[in-house]
Amino acid sequence: MFYIGIDSGTQSTKSVVLDFETGDIVAQASQSYDLISGLPAGHLEQHPSDWIDAVKNTVASCLDQLGDRRAEVRGIGVSGQQHGLVVLDGNDEVIRPAKLWCDTSTVEQCDQFAAEFGGVDGLIAKAGNAMLPGYTIPKLLWLKQNEPDNLARVAAILLPHDYINFALTGVKRMEYGDASGMGILNIRTKKWESDLINFVDPRVQEMLPELGSSNVPHGTLLPDLASEWGLSSDVIVSAGGGDNMMGAIGTGNIADGTITASFGTSGTIYGCAEKPIIDPNGEIAAFCDSTDRWLPLVCTMNVTVVTEQVCGWFGWDHAELEKQVSSVPAGSEGVSFLPYLNGERTPNLPNGTGVIHGLGARTGSPAHMARAAMEGATLGLAYGLRRFNELGLTPGEIRLTGGGSKSGIWRQISADVFGVLVVGLATAEGAGLGGAIQAAHADGQGSYEELCGRLVLLDESTRCEPEAEAAGVYREKLDRQVALTGVLKDAGML
Ligand code: XUL
Repeated sequence: MFYIGIDSGTQSTKSVVLDFETGDIVAQASQSYDLISGLPAGHLEQHPSDWIDAVKNTVASCLDQLGDRRAEVRGIGVSGQQHGLVVLDGNDEVIRPAKLWCDTSTVEQCDQFAAEFGGVDGLIAKAGNAMLPGYTIPKLLWLKQNEPDNLARVAAILLPHDYINFALTGVKRMEYGDASGMGILNIRTKKWESDLINFVDPRVQEMLPELGSSNVPHGTLLPDLASEWGLSSDVIVSAGGGDNMMGAIGTGNIADGTITASFGTSGTIYGCAEKPIIDPNGEIAAFCDSTDRWLPLVCTMNVTVVTEQVCGWFGWDHAELEKQVSSVPAGSEGVSFLPYLNGERTPNLPNGTGVIHGLGARTGSPAHMARAAMEGATLGLAYGLRRFNELGLTPGEIRLTGGGSKSGIWRQISADVFGVLVVGLATAEGAGLGGAIQAAHADGQGSYEELCGRLVLLDESTRCEPEAEAAGVYREKLDRQVALTGVLKDAGML
């Protein structure tokens, strides 16, 4: 039996095939795409058709790798970038490109929500979350205020993974996990907050599809697609979820006490909780997960973005980046890199920019900048981890996933910066594996505890313990990063 996991990300879509009996990933394929270029600063958009194209090609390639054994495929689970807004007209055609989780053009709209609903405190009392530019509903208010003709044509709104599910099954539906990142779900009751919806437009109520449990399958594969792929049309498509929710499943983060850190374009740290975890400061997002529990999460917008930028500056590949970073001691000899290249969500600096501080004649080298970049991105996440600790979530160990977790030096820096044991997984494709496991669960193959217990494997060779001296250096460096950020912010420069 095979289950397919599809991870539709911001830079690429990766599909994997899980052999349910052996637990091996027996086929995989990926396809990259770009953001739409030439838009004003802060506007980050993609064509949903690029995602669908990549889904179709990567699944077809995986099935080619399976050959005749494709008949054993029983289910598909989709992971998607959170928060993006897909708007469809009455004929289910996409009206305009999707504004993404990393789009920061909606600062004004978030301020309008805050002014109407009593600021961060009022919004948290209502829905459990503050209103941040990354979230979905401010994007719809932006559409109303900037493209009213487009809003008038909207018949349905979907999140990226919902749209892929729709393309696979013809069914429009939302599940609690991804829906909790829209800004309109009361995460305590798992019901829409009509005041927040009506503030945009009462008609939005009709644009929202049915909302329900993440444990209910989304549907079955459309007959045309099934025959194009040579699959049976009773292949099920599970509810799917946002990439962090599916990463939680794929890293075995399905019980109180486990923490995952994901080093992708964005960085996230998240846990699983049996009840809502609400941060009165609104820095930890109070999301639902995609197994009908809750998922407290901190998100920074700049992780591999920063290291990729450095590689671009100096013409390095990842092996060279590792070599250069390893040649500089922990702390980068006083060089700090505030990593806010794309603006930032935590701390909330939507118009933030990157800053390199502390260069000296000797330390102004590419290697120092590279190490400072890797450290700065990791310290950004450590700021969120501090807040987790303040809310009583203290991990004994952190599971690492995402592209950045493949780097040995980055794993050691993470252990030292977080001051906690870290360990990678057998596959860095946590979200894709999560999709496949969710599909198996939806197909009645067992509880998440049983499935994750057998199918999520740690790679013990990647385990890193924090080194006391380096951990001390990073504690001070985090204080410096927070102080520097505060000073520049107060001066109106971030
Ligand atoms: C989390 C977030 C990002 C995206 C990346 O809230 O915005 O991690 O999900 O795809």
